Amino acid sequence: MERIAVLTSGGDSPGMNAAIRAAVRTGIDRGLSVFGVYRGFDGLIDGCLELLSSAGVSNIIQRGGTILHSARSPRFFDPAPREQAARTLADKGIEGLLVVGGDGSFRGANCLHQEHGVQVVGVPATIDNDIWGSDYTIGYDTAVNTALSAIDKIKDTAAAHDRLFLVEVMGRDAGFIALEVGVGSGAEEILIPETRTDLEALSGLIEGRREKGRTSSLVVVAEGDEEGNAYQIATKLEALSGLESHVTVLGHVQRGGAPTSADRVLATKLGWAAVEALIDGAAPCMVGEEDHEVTRHPLADSWTRKKSLDPLLVSLANPGRL
Ligand code: F6P
Repeated sequence: MERIAVLTSGGDSPGMNAAIRAAVRTGIDRGLSVFGVYRGFDGLIDGCLELLSSAGVSNIIQRGGTILHSARSPRFFDPAPREQAARTLADKGIEGLLVVGGDGSFRGANCLHQEHGVQVVGVPATIDNDIWGSDYTIGYDTAVNTALSAIDKIKDTAAAHDRLFLVEVMGRDAGFIALEVGVGSGAEEILIPETRTDLEALSGLIEGRREKGRTSSLVVVAEGDEEGNAYQIATKLEALSGLESHVTVLGHVQRGGAPTSADRVLATKLGWAAVEALIDGAAPCMVGEEDHEVTRHPLADSWTRKKSLDPLLVSLANPGRL
């Protein structure tokens, strides 16, 4: 293998640049030419790629977003554009492709492998942390810390005005971010899709706190909670018990900003590991870090197996315990 390419795909996450940097420099160090594909699978279909240099990836380790840009590519669901993408690679003599992204991106990569024999390696990068095969995904730690710092500020104003706040965090259909920031911010209640949400019990808890003189409350809501988003839950609470609440949706602020040290280091390890996996002929696979060891798993495991929340955190998050 002499030529490889790297792309970033799906929702960007802080640390993607650090992964690109590590992959490019490892590849060059191992005698490979490394191409960067712009705008994820869309760019691969359209032939938007160029050779990257070591100098070209300097001074990016600390930057959020992705210098290669990212995209969600509905076109990649169809076989014909995938064939075009494979042709882009073949025309340049590129045999190996690193896909930095989440499980949707890995599924796309797997199709490229099955249909056209492209050697693909997945590098798990999403703020949602919902990929089996790596204890943490690139970007999760930064997103959690961004959300935590925003929530700390909201708690100040909630206390000053004796208010109930519902703060919605991202995570798609997983509660990793909500659980971690909920525990870390000392939230009264954490609503996540993995556990049943009982709104009657929640309003009882908040009323009970008021009776004891605790005038402000914070509830962290995962965007994928089965009772709905934070606005829908606020409406239901008001209809149920007359409780008035203020809603803050943190949104895409959680995806931006400089990656934390943990994310830069994880991305550096996994960018390196992905190139080594390609050279070793381990593709198609996903690289991850589990119990401080870099690991490889079949790519499909990343979406067929489900990563669990930390059961201790789930139990500590029970209302009234802390
Ligand atoms: O997967 C990352 C993520 O930020 C999710 O938490 C969120 O549900 C989704 O992407 C938002 O996607 P978009 O930026 O395309 O609206």
